[in-house]
Amino acid sequence: MPPLSRVTVDEIRRAKQKARKLVMLTAYDYSFAKLVDESGVDIVLVGDSLAMVVLGEQDTTTVTQQDMLRHAKAARKGVTRALLVGDLPYPAIHSAGADLTAAARAFIEEAGCDAVKVEWADGMPNRVRKVLASGIAVMGHVGLTPQTALAEGGFGMRGKDAASAARILSQAQALEQAGCFAIVLECVPDQVAQAITERLAIPTIGIGSGPNCDGQVLVLHDVLGLFERFTPKFVKRYAKLSEEVRNAVRAYAGEVRSGQFPGASQTVKMSREEESHLRRLLKSESKNKT
Ligand code: KIV
Repeated sequence: MPPLSRVTVDEIRRAKQKARKLVMLTAYDYSFAKLVDESGVDIVLVGDSLAMVVLGEQDTTTVTQQDMLRHAKAARKGVTRALLVGDLPYPAIHSAGADLTAAARAFIEEAGCDAVKVEWADGMPNRVRKVLASGIAVMGHVGLTPQTALAEGGFGMRGKDAASAARILSQAQALEQAGCFAIVLECVPDQVAQAITERLAIPTIGIGSGPNCDGQVLVLHDVLGLFERFTPKFVKRYAKLSEEVRNAVRAYAGEVRSGQFPGASQTVKMSREEESHLRRLLKSESKNKT
């Protein structure tokens, strides 16, 4: 059972010792964040997948810090119990002179997030240490890192051979040693996820990495069947909301066109007295004009 009180970073760490599976899901706005939080997840991630599933971009590299903060602020209004994590976007990590600590601080101070997530990049452990020194909790992300996926040969699985699996393990260990409280493992084979999970004291949260992680994360729009451009193999759709949305909108359009909507119950009438007053007023106005 998820805790009923507000979820803390310490509880996320302790979940691993208690062998309690962690549930993380993305959300990007007030209404969905509220629904996700009310459904009892442990962690709500304002992921930079925002770029693709909300902003319609081809990948996550174009989403800005301002975009992320705007959506994180909205999600904060809906999340009262789960841990709210903001995803540091590509420019905050990779642009020339990027100040990771300042970017992370904005997620905490401006948007009200409880922690931030960073994708692996060269030199990341030292940068994470600086963020942690400023009192901000950090979640790491290794394996497939979407912000650099195209530059690294595409969106396929990572760690399929022993050498690259060992590299991903050492990245995860370096982030743990730097002080991350949890690590997302994206698109690595089951055995690699298991080996990493067994070797880390902090929880691993898998996406496309099989069942042997300490928790799982998916993109909300995939879970709900709202994003149709493509569906990764590892996604399980728990609803088909895009069909529901199209059916509802078609029904609405049909009723507007046929005059069925708005009906009596969606319509406000003025009192008879005011109506006759209005009629008299309009009559005298039109007389004055002629
Ligand atoms: O941006 C995102 O949604 C993510 C998760 C899929 C882990 O990074």
